[in-house]
Amino acid sequence: MVVTASESNPQGTIKKKAQPSGRNKAGKRKDGVALHKELLTVAEAEARKMRAVNPAQYYRQNLGQLGFGDPEHALVQTIKELMDNSLDACEAMGVLPEVVVELTATAKQYEVVTNRTKDGGVRTFPIFRLAVEDNGCGVIRSKVAKCFGSVLYGSKFFSFKQSRGQQGLGVHAAIIYAQLTSLEPAIITTKTESDDKALRVVMKIDTEKNTPVVLGSEEVEFPRPHGTRVELMIAGDYTPKVESFIKELSLANPHADLKFTVVPVAGQEPKIIHFKRANDTLPPPPKEIKPHLLSMEPGALLEMKSNDTCCNTARQFLVRHFVRISDAKAEELLKASGIPADSPPKDIDVELLLKSARECELMRPPLDVLSPIGEDALRQSMRRMYPDAEFICTASRDPWSYRGVPFQVEVGAAYGGQSVISDCERVKEGVFRSKVIRLANKCPLIYDSRDCLLYKVVKEINWRNYRLPQDEGSLPMAPLVLVVSLVSTKVPYSVPGKFAVAYHEEIREQLRLALQTLGRSIQGFISHRQRQEHEQHRQSIFQLYAKEISRDISLLTGADQSVIFQKLMETIKSKSKKPRSRSVEVRVPEETGMPAEVTVSQPSPSDATSVPVSTEAMTPRQKCIQFTLEDYLR
Ligand SMILES: Nc1ncnc2c1ncn2[C@@H]1O[C@H](COP(=O)(O)OP(=O)(O)OP(=O)(O)O)[C@@H](O)[C@H]1O
Ligand SMILES: [Mg+2]
Repeated sequence: MVVTASESNPQGTIKKKAQPSGRNKAGKRKDGVALHKELLTVAEAEARKMRAVNPAQYYRQNLGQLGFGDPEHALVQTIKELMDNSLDACEAMGVLPEVVVELTATAKQYEVVTNRTKDGGVRTFPIFRLAVEDNGCGVIRSKVAKCFGSVLYGSKFFSFKQSRGQQGLGVHAAIIYAQLTSLEPAIITTKTESDDKALRVVMKIDTEKNTPVVLGSEEVEFPRPHGTRVELMIAGDYTPKVESFIKELSLANPHADLKFTVVPVAGQEPKIIHFKRANDTLPPPPKEIKPHLLSMEPGALLEMKSNDTCCNTARQFLVRHFVRISDAKAEELLKASGIPADSPPKDIDVELLLKSARECELMRPPLDVLSPIGEDALRQSMRRMYPDAEFICTASRDPWSYRGVPFQVEVGAAYGGQSVISDCERVKEGVFRSKVIRLANKCPLIYDSRDCLLYKVVKEINWRNYRLPQDEGSLPMAPLVLVVSLVSTKVPYSVPGKFAVAYHEEIREQLRLALQTLGRSIQGFISHRQRQEHEQHRQSIFQLYAKEISRDISLLTGADQSVIFQKLMETIKSKSKKPRSRSVEVRVPEETGMPAEVTVSQPSPSDATSVPVSTEAMTPRQKCIQFTLEDYLR
């Protein structure tokens, strides 16, 4: 089979005709007339199309994988990526974050050809000017262009330390999306603590070469001692997701001050939402660790030992590059794998080494390297967000590890109250579906909940055991907001857009246990509330009849009806503090000449009604009243 490539058909089309093996390589017909079509084999035609793809080109064509597939997702995703970076930069600097977000719709429009509109098939979205400014560490001048202008370039990918960003993609994807939709460059202003002035760089990304294109730079004043401001022009669709994202980000970072100013429609008055910090305590800073041997794939270990240039021996290689491996442990591991400890690293048989690492008791990675939200801080944060919630509780598990990577889970629940109800989905009158807020390294995950382990485990729990109505395998049907948080030195995201957490049995198990603890607290609250409601109901019945009882007792005893009524009410109120008490006390003033105390016990199956009021002198009417009295209290 051959392929023809010509000017009119540069890609080449497959010709079904078989070409004799002795084809005319000179491109001439037998009669000597030159062919204007070159005949190629399929493999040759394919070879002509082959070229390397750089990550900027790849992600420019696949921005959907990073959350920039359409203007609605892209707007939230851009804000998320920039705010994540800001919070990471503040954490690196060890300061309480102050992040300002300004989102302003401009008159400029972005047109998308679509089938969604009936008339004409073109949808327009406003171009927004977005600025995110922080008081983080800033970026040193020589690195600004590279940091923001080369995809997969950053400070976090190779570090085994908990941070919101971990790939070197986020801000780059936002800049590429901005220049694709608005044609405008990014403006980066940054100042480190040692700079007198900030550097302002106007730049784009050349996606063909994955390099920055600096259009201009200058020194400018910056309102903070250090920090970074990123400004982009992006097409966006402003939906409630934006505000709920910032609200959830504030929930996950109670120590952060987040100020959001938005003009959703060009020319409108700005709306300001200010999430002040719930506490002034910096969470413990995350610590950097080396990788754990058990987290290594054989292929990665093979490459690592082949490229190693700093170690002379296999023992040194293991001790220097991996956590929890002492000299003695390295010797033990190498001996078990039949590798002499003093042989060069390249002699290591990676499969044998990993096998002995699995078999010998290799300690877990250190687990105190993480920076969780903290149970108290999470509770405080939830109380701030749901001030009228009837019940708030949190639970956490001790840190643990999956495949040598430390992680920790924390969960929280807010039950009942108008603010909780308005966050839940209303299924029908009076019935609400719970909401799940997923957090990974203190950052909300907004989309793709169905593919996310954090969401799936919530649905796996049998909430009916905890007195919450639930259809099999779905969320509880209750006014309830559940917060599920995972922190780790490497969150196992299922896609590069960081929308969902992938399945790991260890994480699932810890989450399940944490949610069950939460379930027990919720159950305790619901039982307590049901008891209270039952008691209130009982009390209200007493109250309903107190008037009649006091009238009847007044008839029987001659005592003042209003006094009896008042005393009865006092007794009812005092009994409500002791809900299990089953007796009602009626005190009658002594001057009436009647017994000073009438005790009426509630009937019980074994014990007939005992009303120590003499019935001998009673008229039929009084007897009838006596019967009524007993009935009231039955
Ligand atoms: N506001 C900022 N302050 C300081 N440094 C920043 C800021 N924004 C970005 N950077 C630097 O630029 C790098 C690239 O950022 P980018 O968001 O693309 O990747 P990342 O945060 O490392 O990982 P991820 O793709 O998961 O977000 C960061 O690693 C960081 O070093
Ligand atoms: Mg980032």
